[in-house]
Amino acid sequence: MILISKSTVDIVFETARLEEVIGDFVKLKKSGSNFKGLSPFSNEKTPSFMVSPAKQIWKDFSSGKGGNVVSFLMEHEHFTFPEAIKFLAKKYNIEVEETQQTNEQKEAASLRESMYAVTAFAQSYFSKMLTESEEGKNIGLSYFKERGFTDESIERFHLGYSPDEWTALTNAATDAGFQKEFLVSTGLTIEKGGKTFDRFKGRIMFPIHSMSGRVTGFGGRILKQDKQAAKYLNSPESEVYQKSKVLYGLYQAKQHIAKESNCYLVEGYTDVIQMHQAGIQNVVSSSGTALTPDQVRLIRRLTNTITLLFDGDAAGLRAAIRGVDVILEAGMHVSICTFPAGEDPDSFVRKNQPTEVKEFLVKSTVDFVQFKAKLLSEEGENEPIRKAETIGEIVSTIALIPDAIRREIYIQDCASTMNISEDVLFSTLAQMLQKKAKQAPQTKASEKMQVVSAPKQKVNQRFVLERNIISLLLLYGNEEVSFEDVVLQSDDEGKIELTPTEISAKVYEKIYLDLQQDEVELSTKSFRELYHSLLSIYNEQKPLIMETFLLELSAEQSALVSSIIMDEENNVLHDWERKNIIINDKKSEIGRWLQQTILNLRCLLIQEKIGELKNKTVESNVETHQEILEEVNDYVGLKKNLSQRLDRVIF
Ligand code: CTP
Ligand code: MN
Repeated sequence: MILISKSTVDIVFETARLEEVIGDFVKLKKSGSNFKGLSPFSNEKTPSFMVSPAKQIWKDFSSGKGGNVVSFLMEHEHFTFPEAIKFLAKKYNIEVEETQQTNEQKEAASLRESMYAVTAFAQSYFSKMLTESEEGKNIGLSYFKERGFTDESIERFHLGYSPDEWTALTNAATDAGFQKEFLVSTGLTIEKGGKTFDRFKGRIMFPIHSMSGRVTGFGGRILKQDKQAAKYLNSPESEVYQKSKVLYGLYQAKQHIAKESNCYLVEGYTDVIQMHQAGIQNVVSSSGTALTPDQVRLIRRLTNTITLLFDGDAAGLRAAIRGVDVILEAGMHVSICTFPAGEDPDSFVRKNQPTEVKEFLVKSTVDFVQFKAKLLSEEGENEPIRKAETIGEIVSTIALIPDAIRREIYIQDCASTMNISEDVLFSTLAQMLQKKAKQAPQTKASEKMQVVSAPKQKVNQRFVLERNIISLLLLYGNEEVSFEDVVLQSDDEGKIELTPTEISAKVYEKIYLDLQQDEVELSTKSFRELYHSLLSIYNEQKPLIMETFLLELSAEQSALVSSIIMDEENNVLHDWERKNIIINDKKSEIGRWLQQTILNLRCLLIQEKIGELKNKTVESNVETHQEILEEVNDYVGLKKNLSQRLDRVIF
């Protein structure tokens, strides 16, 4: 794990200018005090992507995303936090200080850095050999051209050529000052019986990039017809290259995958490159093996849909079906598109026009589970014994899917495809799930609870009100506002009355006291966490400095905060200006908004309470029934009272 010192992070945030960083990725135009551009997260035609240089926050109204400079890089480049900080440090020439590392960790980190350095050198050496050496041009480049690869592809995928000599790379690297130790640990050089030679001698080279664009390893294809040698050689497993944790083409595809909300999975290097040339850029390859859970996690950072592209012959299908369990278990959607027998994406793209390829992909892509059900039912036709097996096979696939609703839909679907009764499939599924539950460790009672949630509309209303609470705290937490409240007063005869009174208080105090009185906890986790951190800032009498506050937030929270601030800029302030409302009025306006939000939230809670109590009466005996009804009455009275007060504060 990379640990970057707090002071480096601080310097990066002080130095980086959001508009400059975003400007490298999105064409921005000045619009008032902000910048505007086309959303990089969707294919919109009218710009709804906003950047505020004053506040150093951005907001994309088409996708709802937003945040600070680091969260932009995390969203757009799919960097981790340390990767984003390192990227910015590089852009602004800031030295990155890493902390809290033991000597051992430091050693390991510098070992990895040395391996990356030699790998990067090898990549540029192979590129140079391909385009500048006579041998590279005659053998490597002409091969690529023959396969239809364009110069642009060669450049984009950093393709190269490793000369057909025993120690060409090894010598070039040691001459350039690299230690043999790292050439050997990365597998570029093989040491045997005191002799050294190049692993990739005489091959064309496909560098394999990490998600953030570092070269971690290589695949090298032989050009000669040689039965003895493997067609492809890959870098051996090492500190920097783990086959199961990388996907070929992911670096070049990541933005396209996120934008298209789909990731095409193909078998090989050449398939990826040809698909790119046909204009389909959301493509990766698992390099001829089944997908691993680590690879699925990489894709899931970008989308939750994977489409498998495979050769339609039997071997291709078997290969396709192998990797699917891990994808379904991860809760992702899987589709499949099979090419005509004997064709892989590489050959298919070469034989067809790009528009034809795109049409074919759309037309021939089907849901994986449905596809498998159809395949099985065709196999099992006229074979009663085989049919029983196929039921087990398809249901075991469906049982992998974590979401109960999706499972149910698939069962219904497959029942009709396979001409089997739903009951049979459901009971088989139930048995399998039971068996699985017994095997799995006891957990997740809390997850089950969450499934039984309140009806949708209530959730939405509550969400809006809770968002209002956060907005008020964020925007006006420290402001003293006035609002009408009612206080309990007893008259001379001791009769208690509710008297409307004008009260003045700080926004955060009012919110805190009122919510505490009702023992209200905000139901949305991000809101709850923001609520507590905002209150503790105000309680300590600290000013709320947006830049530092944003630093401590998760991506989700900083998106929320930015959208609140941008909403405010776009709507509320404008309205106030238009309505000519002066500062004093603004304060009472805030007071009313505050009062309205809290009263509505209380109404909602009481409504829920009444609902709960009514449910209770169903299963209670006569005596407790009576008690509960009285309680309900109390609440109904309280609600009426609140509603009356609400009428007064409505705008
Ligand atoms: N592969 C490998 N080692 C091998 C054979 C294959 O690593 N000995 C991987 C490579 O990533 C390759 C993929 O499996 O891209 C698919 O194999 P194949 O279809 O044989 O290769 P193609 O990419 O189709 O290469 P070509 O068309 O050049 O033969
Ligand atoms: Mn091929």
